[in-house]
Amino acid sequence: MKTYLSLKNEHQRALPEEFQHDDVRYTEGLVEQFLGEFTRDGDVVFDPFMGYGTTLVVAERLNRVAFGVEFEERRWRYVQTILQNPERALHGDSTKLASMKLPDFDFSITSPPYMGRHHKENPFTAYSTVGEGYGKYLETMRQIYHQLNAKLKPSGRAVIEVSNLKHEDGTLTTLAWDIATEISKVLRFQGEIVVTWDDGYGYGYDHSYCLVFAKM
Ligand SMILES: C[S@@+](CC[C@H](N)C(=O)[O-])C[C@H]1O[C@@H](n2cnc3c(N)ncnc32)[C@H](O)[C@@H]1O
Repeated sequence: MKTYLSLKNEHQRALPEEFQHDDVRYTEGLVEQFLGEFTRDGDVVFDPFMGYGTTLVVAERLNRVAFGVEFEERRWRYVQTILQNPERALHGDSTKLASMKLPDFDFSITSPPYMGRHHKENPFTAYSTVGEGYGKYLETMRQIYHQLNAKLKPSGRAVIEVSNLKHEDGTLTTLAWDIATEISKVLRFQGEIVVTWDDGYGYGYDHSYCLVFAKM
C-alpha cells in the first residue's frame, strides 16, 4: 500500500436529520481502501468506536463479518436499523473490551473520540462527564488497545484514523502523534498512511493519518 491516499470527504449514505448536526463519520471510501488491502472474504472486522456504523456497513457489503461497540445509545440504535446482522453491533463501553463477548478478529479499523490537550470532558463517555485530562485520555486509549491486542489474531492489523488538532488560540494538540506513541506500547507500530482530503477535513487540517499496527 502507498504511504499516502487522496480521498474525497463525502459519504455514500445520508444520516437521519436528528444526527446531521453531529456527523463524526469517516468515509465509506476510506474503509473500502483498508478492507481491500488488509482483509479477505469472511474475515472478522472490529470497530471499538463504531459511531454511526460506517465500518460495519462497508464490511458487510464486502462479505466480511463485522462487529462493533458504541457507547451512545441513540447512535447504537440507529446502527441497529442499517445492518444485516445488528446483533453484532454492541451497546457498551470499549474500556471494558476484555469482558465483552466478541470473537477474535482479523482486522480492526476505527476513528476514536478526539480530545484536545486542554479539554475538560471525558471522550470515553461521549463527553457526558468531566474527564481526568489529556494524559488520562492517552492512558485509556492504551488500555483499550491493550485489550484489543488480546483479541487480534496473530497476523491481524489495527488501523486508527486520526489527525492532529489546531486550536483557535493558535496552539496545537499533536493527537495523532501522541496516540501513535501511546499505542506503540501495546501493539507494534508499522507506520502511518497520510490521507489527503480533497474537500478539507477539519481541526485546521486537510489531511489525517491512518496509523497501522500489528499484533504485539
Ligand atoms: C469519531 S466517532 C466514530 C465514527 C465512526 N467512524 C463512523 O464513521 O460513524 C467515535 C465514537 O466513539 C464513541 N465512543 C466514545 N467513547 C466510547 C467508549 N468508551 N466505548 C465505545 N464507544 C465510544 C462515540 O460515542 C463516537 O460515536
